[in-house]
Amino acid sequence: MAEMNAGGSGLKANLEMTLREWIERYQREIVFDQVHYRGVQTWKNVLDLWVLQEILWETAVDTVIEIGVRHGGTTLWLADMLRTFRADDALVIAIDLEPPAIQLPPEVRFINGDSIAPTTVEKARGLAAGRKALVIADGNHAAGHVLQEMRLYGPLVAEGSYFIAEDGIVDVMEWKEFTPGPTVAAHQFVAENDAFIMDRSREKFLLTYAPDGFLKRVRAAL
Ligand SMILES: C[S@@+](CC[C@H](N)C(=O)[O-])C[C@H]1O[C@@H](n2cnc3c(N)ncnc32)[C@H](O)[C@@H]1O
Repeated sequence: MAEMNAGGSGLKANLEMTLREWIERYQREIVFDQVHYRGVQTWKNVLDLWVLQEILWETAVDTVIEIGVRHGGTTLWLADMLRTFRADDALVIAIDLEPPAIQLPPEVRFINGDSIAPTTVEKARGLAAGRKALVIADGNHAAGHVLQEMRLYGPLVAEGSYFIAEDGIVDVMEWKEFTPGPTVAAHQFVAENDAFIMDRSREKFLLTYAPDGFLKRVRAAL
């Protein structure tokens, strides 16, 4: 793998790097401790955040259900984006097995629990009732678990909005300890549910951690 040139131009020294090498480097050296939003760790491919804000704007959703919070950088970012776009209507329903260490802003309602537990789903459903929601699944990435999340939270996704399955990158990169992962769930979900399509236009930057993971709801009826 091409090594970063610490001294001179990092770009010039790394122009021959392949996409595979770039992804491996991002995963190994960047994503877990070198990406921050308002000083808080944010476990995202930053190109995906740009696509996400385009989706939030275009779909005009007022609610994001984020499964998997971890440090909370993305949660903060989502709250700020939605507040900017939707003012007082903004709501982030954040779900995790453990609360983050940071103080969450008032737009965020945190649900402490397993994403697929009936009590968690009931709480999320209650908070999202009557609202226009998008779901981001970034918790347990095992295919079977993600498929259950798609079936449980898919009905909460507004028509025209998305269920985004994060980290299908594990399947594409064949990181065996994490496969089968989200892309396997996504293919099964769209095969069994024609209210959703796989919207590859959202992979326009190529370097996405959610390949096959932008599932758009194109019909109200499930
Ligand atoms: C990849 S991290 C989330 C990163 C975060 N979305 C971000 O962008 O910075 C995964 C998180 O999912 C949580 N998690 C794992 N399994 C879960 C489950 N079954 N239900 C809810 N949360 C879960 C973990 O506790 C962990 O905090």
